[in-house]
Amino acid sequence: MRQKIVAGNWKMNTTVPEGVQLAKDVVAAAAAVPADVKLIVATPFTHLCPVAEVVKGTRVSLSAENCADKEKGAYTGEVSAAMLASAGCEYTILGHSERRQYYGETDAKLVEKVKLALANGLKVILCVGENLDEREAGKHFDVCEAQIKNVLYNFSAEEMASIVIAYEPVWAIGTGKTATAEQAQEIHAFIRKVVADKFGAEVAEQTSILYGGSCKPSNAHELFAQKDIDGGLIGGASLKAEDFIGIALGY
Ligand code: PGA
Repeated sequence: MRQKIVAGNWKMNTTVPEGVQLAKDVVAAAAAVPADVKLIVATPFTHLCPVAEVVKGTRVSLSAENCADKEKGAYTGEVSAAMLASAGCEYTILGHSERRQYYGETDAKLVEKVKLALANGLKVILCVGENLDEREAGKHFDVCEAQIKNVLYNFSAEEMASIVIAYEPVWAIGTGKTATAEQAQEIHAFIRKVVADKFGAEVAEQTSILYGGSCKPSNAHELFAQKDIDGGLIGGASLKAEDFIGIALGY
C-alpha cells in the first residue's frame, strides 16, 4: 500500500509566533484524521526549530520548502540539507514551480539538491507540473515526463523509497482553478508509468504521487478518490488548521 500524505506548504507566510500557533492547531486537530494518512507541515526556514518542538512526538511530520544545492561553505543565505536534518526535518520540498520560475531552479540543480537531501537522511517531495501555455498546447505530458527523467532517473530504485512526487499544474496554484479529478488522474497515471518505465512496476506502485493546486476541503475528496492520487500538497488552504485538516478528512 502506498503512503497517503497530506502536506501543507506554508510558502512565505506567517511570522514565527503565528507559525508556531498554526502548528499547534494542526497537531490539536490531527486526531480526527485517519491514522493511515501522513500529515506534514512545510514551513519557512526560520520556523523549523520551534515548529519541530511543537510536532515532536506527534503524528505530524516536519518539512522544509527548499534546500541548498551545495553541501556547505561560502554560500551566503543558503540552508543546507544537513542543517535541515539537524533542525528536525523529515522531509524537504524540492523543485516547487515558484522556485523554478522565480529563482532559476533547474533540473540540473535539483539533481544536486535531491542527492544532498537523501545523503542527509531527508525524504524529498519533488514537484513537477506544466504551466498554462504548455497545458493549452497539449504538452503537459512531455513537460512532466522530462522533469521526472531529468531529475529522478539519476537515482536508484532504493532511493525512490524516500521520494514523493507532487504534480502541481502551475495554472492551478493559488488561482482557485483546480484541475478536474479526471485531468489529475490522467496525468498521475502517466507519471506513475514514467516511474515504472525506469524503476519497474513495483517501485511505481509504492511511490506516492500528490496533487497540488487550489486543493480545498470541498474538492479534496473527489481528487483523493482517484486511483493514482495519493494525497495533496496544499498551499493557501494549509494556512488555516481547520481547512488543512478538512482536506485530510477528504480521505
Ligand atoms: P495552492 O498551492 O494550494 O495555494 O494552490 C499549492 C502549492 O503551491 O503547493
